[in-house]
Amino acid sequence: MMDTWYSNMVLYSLDPETFYDTNGDGIGDLKGIKEKLNYLAGLGITCIWIQPFYPSPNRDNGYDVTDYYGIDPKLGDHGIFSELIDHARDLGIRVIVDLVVNHTSIAHPWFKAARKDKHSEYRDYYVWSDEPWDFGEEHLKLTGEENTIWTYDEEAGQYYLHRFYKEQPDLNIGNPAVRQEILQIIGFWLKMGVSGFRIDAATLLIEPYGLKDGEKLDLESFIAEMRDYASLRKGDVILLGEANVPPSAMKTYMDKGQKMHMLFNFYMNMKLFLSLARKSARPLYAALSEQTSIPYGNQLLNFLRNHDELALDQLSEDEQHEIFQAFAPQKRMQLYGHGIRRRLAPMFGNDQCRMELAFSLIFTLPGVPMIRYGDEIGMGDNLRLKGRNSVRTPMQWSTGKHGGFSPADHVNRNVIQEAPYDPKHVNVIGAYRDPDSLLNFMKRLIALRKQCALIGTAPVQAIKVRHEGLFAHRYEDKTGLQLLLFHNLTDKEISVSADEADVLADDWVEIFRDGKTQVAHREITLAAYGYLWMKKFPQ
Ligand code: GLC
Ligand code: CA
Repeated sequence: MMDTWYSNMVLYSLDPETFYDTNGDGIGDLKGIKEKLNYLAGLGITCIWIQPFYPSPNRDNGYDVTDYYGIDPKLGDHGIFSELIDHARDLGIRVIVDLVVNHTSIAHPWFKAARKDKHSEYRDYYVWSDEPWDFGEEHLKLTGEENTIWTYDEEAGQYYLHRFYKEQPDLNIGNPAVRQEILQIIGFWLKMGVSGFRIDAATLLIEPYGLKDGEKLDLESFIAEMRDYASLRKGDVILLGEANVPPSAMKTYMDKGQKMHMLFNFYMNMKLFLSLARKSARPLYAALSEQTSIPYGNQLLNFLRNHDELALDQLSEDEQHEIFQAFAPQKRMQLYGHGIRRRLAPMFGNDQCRMELAFSLIFTLPGVPMIRYGDEIGMGDNLRLKGRNSVRTPMQWSTGKHGGFSPADHVNRNVIQEAPYDPKHVNVIGAYRDPDSLLNFMKRLIALRKQCALIGTAPVQAIKVRHEGLFAHRYEDKTGLQLLLFHNLTDKEISVSADEADVLADDWVEIFRDGKTQVAHREITLAAYGYLWMKKFPQ
């Protein structure tokens, strides 16, 4: 069995600005994260991904960096950062951070120098052109918000490439000096004690845009170079790639235990939502068969929501439409033509059974799970906020001022104010008091997932059942330990008997189920949106 820590981690993603404000300036901060580590440890989280805290004009929620070695003074300083890392370690929590090096901020000193002087050593840190090159629609990441990838810069007298907002000029990875800078940044944050990096926009990083005629950079080898550099400095480091690609293309990013350690499982995420929308397990079975074996030493990260839009771009237009119909029927709930800008709870009509089912699924699919802050208590969204900000409102801790997020009179981002998602109805303290809350379910789910390490390591097998709405799968490790899992994707009861699924003839120990699912000898009846986990120990 693989004994790498990330093969069974439980990841929690959070944004320093919206988690907890300790100094009363209305903005969440690193100290706030440190103070709430006990909460995360109590929940059972083993690793947190802290979103960008670097100095930034904040055009793109911190994903536009002006100093890769710095910390935005509004959020804290290196002192509190290292305390946070130490405190997390004491609680058994690792910390990973964003490596945002596809682009800098337009206010980065490199770009300032580059645009000012054609002969500056920094000119070639970016990608310039006298004419905007032709590009297809598919190159636009933020359709509707930013409709070009080339912007003319008066000062430079040339166009520069930007795959996201025009305030985020793309770095020229073809330039060895830029690659050297990237390695140095990795080295620095490893010295600061982080356990790894989320590689932002990983698919774009390796685009050959900045290469001169005839020049060829083996792009995959750059990933390998980052990995080697990082691993030599810290043996158990992880690189977690943000690469929204089909299973067949994952090899570019992680392969045979090499390159990046992990990838976000965007593909499974889309198929999961398609299955939930259709109340049919077929898309899930199909996705499972496409990625049954994760290379030894690599891992996939399953998630329901992240801080961006729910991206559906690997599905056909008809499939996207089905998901919109089910979970985001109004135009204002959709984004960039292929995404949803809602939180989980509102998508599911605040139906806790459905949320539990969805979480149980991502905790049992091959790989490891990630929770987006606030989803563990069923937080809502604010569609009046622009673009992706709808899902980036402050964490709701209590019924107090600003949901306990900040003592300030005015906060940077307002907490949700409308029932049923306002802090009066949705908050951590209230959820803790209610044994049947989603939060307490999550706590049990996490504890149980940790006892089922084979999900992260053993081969998976799909189990055939008659009912289309039922998803069943099984793991078995080398010792003969087995796990059998059932998920009912429909709002009706579904029964399965041993005659139908012969695995049920064996003796299984039930370890987890929703309150209504029933287990009898050789037959089970799954409640609407029910789930059931069963274990069998080696003889
Ligand atoms: C990633 C981030 C997103 C950001 C983009 C540009 O996709 O998740 O929030 O806008 O990269 O850095
Ligand atoms: Ca603050």
